[in-house]
Amino acid sequence: MHAAALTTVPAMSASRPPGRRARLIGVAPLARDEAAAADDAEGPWDSMDDGEFLRWVQLLEERTGVVVPPERKQFLETNLRLRMREVGAGDFETYHRERLAGRRGAVEWAVLVDRLTVHQTHFFRHQPSLDFVREQVLTEFLARTQGRSAFHAWSAGCSTGEEAWSLAMVIDQHAREAATPYHFGVTASDVSQPALAMGREARYSKGKLSEIPARYRSAYCVDDGPQNFVLAERLQRRVGFAMLNLLEVARQPMSHLDLIYCQNVLIYFPRDRRLGVLDQLVDCLRPGGHLILGPGEMTGWSHPRLTRVAGQRTLAYRRRVEDSTP
Ligand SMILES: C[S@@+](CC[C@H](N)C(=O)[O-])C[C@H]1O[C@@H](n2cnc3c(N)ncnc32)[C@H](O)[C@@H]1O
Repeated sequence: MHAAALTTVPAMSASRPPGRRARLIGVAPLARDEAAAADDAEGPWDSMDDGEFLRWVQLLEERTGVVVPPERKQFLETNLRLRMREVGAGDFETYHRERLAGRRGAVEWAVLVDRLTVHQTHFFRHQPSLDFVREQVLTEFLARTQGRSAFHAWSAGCSTGEEAWSLAMVIDQHAREAATPYHFGVTASDVSQPALAMGREARYSKGKLSEIPARYRSAYCVDDGPQNFVLAERLQRRVGFAMLNLLEVARQPMSHLDLIYCQNVLIYFPRDRRLGVLDQLVDCLRPGGHLILGPGEMTGWSHPRLTRVAGQRTLAYRRRVEDSTP
């Protein structure tokens, strides 16, 4: 299957139970949440010993690439204990053996991964990267295709969707204003199912409106009661959300992409994992396609099939046009 098949998946906007917000937007357990969670998880426990901590760190790293540094031991332990209490597991060993092992364990892993990874995000989080998309990536695309083919973008590690919707707003506005309008699709992926569900809902608290530049706000944000807004239907038709583990990109149907946008994801991976994922991402680009990382995502990195483009504020690469490797 080609990437285009994923991007035509309509966002499931029809089911939006009023007031549903399982966790805070930008579900990264920030300092205040962590303190509250620690209170909740208080119990007559000895603290996790270093060997146990290392075992969970390794497990998480193997499954997701994410490394929990020693200074976040409390965060890991608190969230593990909270989950163990929810499922009635008395100790780490039992929880691992009875809940995470085997086929049934996949569902529990999905919950745990969501609890142990950082989901903090904003609309238009890195404006210089989005300016580069508009001014360079889309302009080049249009000059090359004259609107004869569709533009395919991938927001990899999209968390609760703000990054994917921001991209969709920028691309849609460019496509509408172009002399030759073109079609596009954005695939938004993450390893966390709860985060994806929130993105799919396309419904956010009005407190987030201030993150969106005025011209996009008026064009794409629709009032949805006193607390919330939703993204316009025309945008929802263009963004599809899919569960995808970046450690398994080679097994995914992503190829011939015009743009891969991956920010604030690989920073949590050890360097060798980052290199492995980046190699796979390069394979997913069409020749001439762009890869945009977060500015601090991968310092001092180059790749023989890519050329570094853009200025200092944006970490962007273009796959060499003459590179015809499949
Ligand atoms: C801090 S958020 C970044 C969100 C967005 N890209 C941004 O810059 O605002 C990191 C996201 O990466 C996701 N993530 C972590 N490991 C992953 C993996 N192996 N595959 C896919 N997504 C992953 C997390 O679930 C989380 O939602």
